[in-house]
Amino acid sequence: MNSKRAHNFSAGPAVLPLEVLQKAREELVDYRGTGSSLIEMSHRGPEYTEVDRQARERLSRVLGMSDDFEILFYQGGASLQFAMIPYNFNYGKTADYINTGTWSKKAIKEAKVFGDAHVAFTSEDTNFSRVPGDEELKFSGKGEYVHFTSNNTIFGTQFRKEPASDGLLLACDASSDFLSRPLDINRYGVLYAGAQKNAGPAGLTIVILHKELLAKARTENVASMLSYPVQVGTLFNTPPVFGVYIFNYVLEWIESKGGLEAMDKLNQEKAAILYDEVARDDFFYGTAEKESRSLMNVTFRLKDEGLEKTFIEEAKKAGMSGLKGHRSVGGCRASIYNACPRESVEALVSFMREFRRKHG
Ligand SMILES: Cc1ncc(COP(=O)(O)O)c(C=O)c1O
Repeated sequence: MNSKRAHNFSAGPAVLPLEVLQKAREELVDYRGTGSSLIEMSHRGPEYTEVDRQARERLSRVLGMSDDFEILFYQGGASLQFAMIPYNFNYGKTADYINTGTWSKKAIKEAKVFGDAHVAFTSEDTNFSRVPGDEELKFSGKGEYVHFTSNNTIFGTQFRKEPASDGLLLACDASSDFLSRPLDINRYGVLYAGAQKNAGPAGLTIVILHKELLAKARTENVASMLSYPVQVGTLFNTPPVFGVYIFNYVLEWIESKGGLEAMDKLNQEKAAILYDEVARDDFFYGTAEKESRSLMNVTFRLKDEGLEKTFIEEAKKAGMSGLKGHRSVGGCRASIYNACPRESVEALVSFMREFRRKHG
C-alpha cells in the first residue's frame, strides 16, 4: 500500500496518517467482531458512544482543556460556523474581526447578516501577504469577541501566536492549522475547524466552546440546529459518525507521536526545508512575508510564471499531487499538514532542484 501512495500536498481534503487509514480499512467491513461496520450502527449504540467518548477525552487531553469547555462534533464545515458564531453571540451587536484573507472575508460577510462586524485590521492592500502585529489592531471597544483566521490556507500566512483581543475571548477559524501546534486554549471563546485538513475526512467540523462565552449565547426564538445551547451536551441529531471515528484515530496518532509539541517541531522542520529551497535564488519566490509565513501552506511562484503549469504537471508525473495554488491566486502551494511525511517534503525539494537545473 505504501509504495502506491502519492506525495500528497493537497490543501484539503488532505493527506491522513497512513496508520489511521490502514486501521480503518481493517475494521471497515466488520467492526471489532460485531459483523457490521461502525457506520452501519446506531449513533446511540455502545460502539459509537465509546468512539465519541474517546474522541472527546483525547481532544481535551491533547489541547490541555479544562472542564470549562464544551466540544461539538458538527456538520456544515467552517462555513456554517461563520454564520453560527454571530447568530449566537453577535445578534444585533458588534464583534471585532481581523481580515487576513478570503476566509476571514467570508466570516465578516456572514457576521454582517446578524450584527455589526468591525474590521480591526486588514491586509487586503498587500494582497494578504501578512498577518498583523498586535499594535496594528484597532478594536471597536464594544465587541462581543475577536475573530481571526489562525492560518490563511490560500495566501500562506499564519499567526505565530494568538493576537491581542482587547480583553475579549477569541473566536478562531483554525481549519487549516488545527492540532498542528500547542495553543493557549484558555484565550478562546470558540475555536472551530473543518476536519478535512489536519484532523480527518470532510463532513466533520470540530467546535470548541468556552462556557463563559456559551453562557452569553442567545436563547430566545432560535433555530435549534443553529443554536449552541441546544446542541451542546447532547446528540441532537445524527452526528457525522465516520468523521468522528477517523478523527479519534488521528488523535490517537498525534498522541502516539508525542502530542502537539512534537507536531509543531516536525512542522517547523518540514516548513524550513521547503522555504529554504524556495529562497535559494530567484528561480522560485515565496508570496508571504517572512514573519507571517505559514507552516502549513507554503505558497510560492516561479519567476517565470509561464513555467508554473509545466512545474505542476511534471511534479504530478513524478508522484507529487496537489501543488496547484488556489484558483483565486494561481501559482503553487504545497500543503504540508501534520500527516505529510518529511520524506514528501524532501522529495519535493529534490524535484524543485532538478526542475531548476533543467529550466533555470
Ligand atoms: C481557513 C479556512 N476556513 C474555512 C474554510 C472553508 O471550510 P469548509 O469548506 O469546511 O466550510 C477553508 C477551506 O479550505 C479554510 O481553509
